[in-house]
Amino acid sequence: MKIIVVNDYEEMSRKAANIVASQIILKPNSVLGLATGDTPLGMYKNLTRFYQEGDVDFTDVKTFNLDEYYGLDKSNPQSYYFYMMENFFKHINIQQQNIHLPNGMAENIEKECVQYEKNIELAGGIDLQILGIGGNGHIGFNEPDLKFEAITHLVELDENTVKANSRFFKSLDEVPTKAISMGIKTIMGARNILLLASGRTKAEIIYKAIKGKITSEVPASILQLHPQITFIIDKEAASYL
Ligand code: GLP
Repeated sequence: MKIIVVNDYEEMSRKAANIVASQIILKPNSVLGLATGDTPLGMYKNLTRFYQEGDVDFTDVKTFNLDEYYGLDKSNPQSYYFYMMENFFKHINIQQQNIHLPNGMAENIEKECVQYEKNIELAGGIDLQILGIGGNGHIGFNEPDLKFEAITHLVELDENTVKANSRFFKSLDEVPTKAISMGIKTIMGARNILLLASGRTKAEIIYKAIKGKITSEVPASILQLHPQITFIIDKEAASYL
């Protein structure tokens, strides 16, 4: 386990973008696992800049996002598809057919989940998975007490997660209570993982994830067992370590 403690959000974002960029430069057809939320926004900005400056080419890069809300259409501004287009994909030269997010509107959810896993496999597996962390230790939308062996599946969101994510919606009632998420097993299957965390609100859960007992009560604690995991955390998020 590698833990890189940086000064602030900006430094975290730059370091993370450097790691992603070098992954792509060394392997132009890399398969990236991507995350949403506030945390990776700065990383996406830096990667966009690298592209604009001609340093990174996304032509052959494939991406698989961790999760998508159940029941939200791609065109819904709260969907993770919309987030990814707005904050990253529309600014770079990634090919549309190389972008993958679970379809939250799929008629047959089970089939959608099986197909998502298959697509990751067909792409050759994930080279580098980016993660944020929820206040309760969730990664993707794998809430506490979900089985570690789960693969892509429909999840019921915790009350706290719904509350935390309501900041992106007009009201609490509008927040979906379900999502399709890669499972812990899918995430652990990535060859390399990069978890980003910033700010004092993440300090306690970062402590539990890195130093605590490995338990499904803190989904991120399983990452302690991954052979190639790097945490980039700012001073505030690292303050309990
Ligand atoms: C959401 C996402 C996670 C993300 C988490 C933390 O619930 N499904 O992938 O890591 O929130 O978000 P933030 O980075 O905004 O703190």
